[in-house]
Amino acid sequence: MAVYFHGESSNFHLSNDRISYILTVLRNGHLGHLYFGKKLPDRESYNYLQEEALRPMSSNPYEGDRKFSLEHCLQEFPVYGSSDYREPAVEIRLQNGSRIADPRFYSHRVYTGKPILEGLPATYTESSDEAETLEITLLDSVSGIHFILSFTIFRDYDVIARSCKICNGGNEPVYIERIMSFTLDMNDSDYDWIQFSGAWARERFPEKHRLHKGIQSISSTRGHSGHMHNPFIILKRPSADEHQGDTFGFSFIYSGNFIIQAEVDTYGTTRTQMGINPFQFSWLLKPGETFTSPEGIAAYSPAGMNGLSGIFHRLYRKRLARGFWRDRERPILINNWEATYFDFNEDKLIQIAEKAHSAGIELFVLDDGWFGSRRDDTQGLGDWVADRGILPDGIAGLSRRIEEECGMKFGLWFEPEMVNKKSDLYRNHPDWILQTPSRKSCHGRHQFVLDFSRKDVVDYIYNSMAAVIKDSRISYIKWDMNRSITECYSTAYPPEQQGEIFHRYILGVYDLYNRLTTEFPHILFESCASGGGRFDPGILFYAPQAWTSDDTDAVERLKIQYGTSFCYPLSSMGAHVSITPNHQLNRNTPLSTRGNTALFGVFGYELDLNRLTDTEFREVKSQIEFVKKHRKLIHSGTFYRLLSPFKGNEAAWMVVSEDKTKAIVGCYKILNEVNEGFKRLKLQGLDESRLYKINGKETFSGAELMAAGLVITDLLRDSVEQEEAGADFQSEIYVLNAQ
Ligand code: DGJ
Repeated sequence: MAVYFHGESSNFHLSNDRISYILTVLRNGHLGHLYFGKKLPDRESYNYLQEEALRPMSSNPYEGDRKFSLEHCLQEFPVYGSSDYREPAVEIRLQNGSRIADPRFYSHRVYTGKPILEGLPATYTESSDEAETLEITLLDSVSGIHFILSFTIFRDYDVIARSCKICNGGNEPVYIERIMSFTLDMNDSDYDWIQFSGAWARERFPEKHRLHKGIQSISSTRGHSGHMHNPFIILKRPSADEHQGDTFGFSFIYSGNFIIQAEVDTYGTTRTQMGINPFQFSWLLKPGETFTSPEGIAAYSPAGMNGLSGIFHRLYRKRLARGFWRDRERPILINNWEATYFDFNEDKLIQIAEKAHSAGIELFVLDDGWFGSRRDDTQGLGDWVADRGILPDGIAGLSRRIEEECGMKFGLWFEPEMVNKKSDLYRNHPDWILQTPSRKSCHGRHQFVLDFSRKDVVDYIYNSMAAVIKDSRISYIKWDMNRSITECYSTAYPPEQQGEIFHRYILGVYDLYNRLTTEFPHILFESCASGGGRFDPGILFYAPQAWTSDDTDAVERLKIQYGTSFCYPLSSMGAHVSITPNHQLNRNTPLSTRGNTALFGVFGYELDLNRLTDTEFREVKSQIEFVKKHRKLIHSGTFYRLLSPFKGNEAAWMVVSEDKTKAIVGCYKILNEVNEGFKRLKLQGLDESRLYKINGKETFSGAELMAAGLVITDLLRDSVEQEEAGADFQSEIYVLNAQ
């Protein structure tokens, strides 16, 4: 891994053993882009990749020169006003109302490691030889604004991490109206665009279209990344598939309003950008002040979409997620939400926990409803003190009983950012919610959003949460968030800073996460936002796992987990077995398939095991034994998508250990079919030359299993013959052990 600089050509070349990213200083001092993709040999100049031509109706910065136009240059940090008409990376409004900037190369430096982004989540290094960073400073001499761009190349991960600092070195306040964290110009537009969109209970379904001329984008205006569009897209060559072909991924490490867009101009070049959504964004930057953008990650894989996923999985597992739980086996948990909803008391909880412990479950999680007057979802939010009517000795007493009497660890639900009007918190501080003067505020699920742009509000919530944690035995926290922001306005800030509130809100969320994870480093945090409404890399920096979706139906979960896996590792996806008929869909699926689906995630249960039959309970016990035996492999191995639940009646995926000696395959058949043909499943990632014993029975070579395939017809039929609830929704797990 290295960053080369060639003075004569002004080329900068970042490369590791597999990828290259090359940029240059253009004739007018702006930063040009030359190349991103498969590793190239280093050479003095790649400037031949910046072509110039006279094109009528183009504008030109230099008098007498009709060839040089920014409209036709590939750029790193484009601005409006330079002769480029595409969407800019940055827009600064000066006191005189002008929005033109002219960021010219000023200096550069190269250093080992990578920068920490103050107050923001970002990828990191653990030793200085893991990464190198190129920092380029551009200066707009009229305003005195410095733009400091950081480009990091990693030795082991085929990505470029980028962020930008804006420093006001001038003598008047300015407004940042737009700042993109990553801009990548590509020379052509022959790509498929894949986004991951959905809604509550059907998050992150992949959707593909060919890039077309004009702007295509996904974004959020809700104050959180949202169920609707995940801050991640893929651009791949149309001929690329899961396992081969040029594929690029763009992932934004941010949990608030974002935008990711690709603009294809009529010359066929593509400008991909990601950053804070400029919608309602405006940041006052006074002389001497600095603003740091969140980090954007662009990855390249020649091995198709699955290859790309592997890059993100490893990076996010190892160099985004942090702390005590990063590499540890995650406890199998039982959560009482779908078992009781708000209808519980201490005895009922203990009964659930005792039974769960006897099945081998390690962690009991008490969900919503334990505090204040919270007997339903219309009241109590914000009052983080246990309701003694249902928990006579508070959380301290319950958590002690769960540990001492039931032999399990104890976890607790909070929704720190929200308040019901029927609460002591709101009655005491009605001005602490986000609300616009003289206007009514919308509610969502009867609740209002606390103004986390205010430090006093974050302090208050920190203190009330810390008091419960310190007083009790808490090993896990589920941090929920159940509504989007509306009427975004903070009465604590002056009119000229109202454009900052969405971003300041999310900085407040990060601040609270940071304080809690620093003060209580051994607590495992799981994020949640009505299921997967804030499943993004920003939150993964603080909480290594997230509740993937409120939809616990096994068949729907196949799609949700499959879609989520394009960017996020299995170790980040909370996945639970729930009761049938399923609470979201009323569907009955076999217990085995519910277990076999949840297995490919962070495994848990969301039901009362007392309500199962003896046979079902025995099955639960063996599921738990199986998970304990294999969870390390599942969370640390390489994941392969084999058959898409979006395409056919079967779905399949597998995980292979790093040394290729072990693998687990999950194969699912949605509807039973009559008189169907013979089926084979081609596996991936095995060692061709090794022999693998499958489920302790027959032995096949890796070559056979990958080229000819594993015969699955009979195995699926066999499972139909087992005593399951019905013939639909069957599944099989195959465990492969190298001989
Ligand atoms: C939404 C979450 O996604 C659920 O799992 C549950 O915690 C409820 N909120 C509780 O209100």
